[in-house]
Amino acid sequence: MTTLTLVCKTSEVPENGVKQISIPGFDEEFAVYHLDGEYFVTDDMCTHGMVSLAGGDIEDGQIFCPLHGGAFDIRTGKATELPCRVKLKTYAVEVKDDAVYAALS
Ligand code: FES
Repeated sequence: MTTLTLVCKTSEVPENGVKQISIPGFDEEFAVYHLDGEYFVTDDMCTHGMVSLAGGDIEDGQIFCPLHGGAFDIRTGKATELPCRVKLKTYAVEVKDDAVYAALS
């Protein structure tokens, strides 16, 4: 059975924006995205270096890392721009009662 964890309120993430979220019990931060009315959750740390992706820019469904400009597809986690090569971890999301939940474990 999948366990869903409360990530944040939907209102915390602006449309076409991203927000870094810390969740008690998890060592790493997560990035929550709001794209075209849908929500997505990935690891926040770039797979190329120790940088928060939540500080980057979103363009065409991709998050661009603020350090070297690598990018990932927000929906799939696929690395789409070098120097990123390793896929970003993504999590299944459910929205209920104005809150975002994800299958984090
Ligand atoms: S640390 Fe993200 S592209 Fe290099």
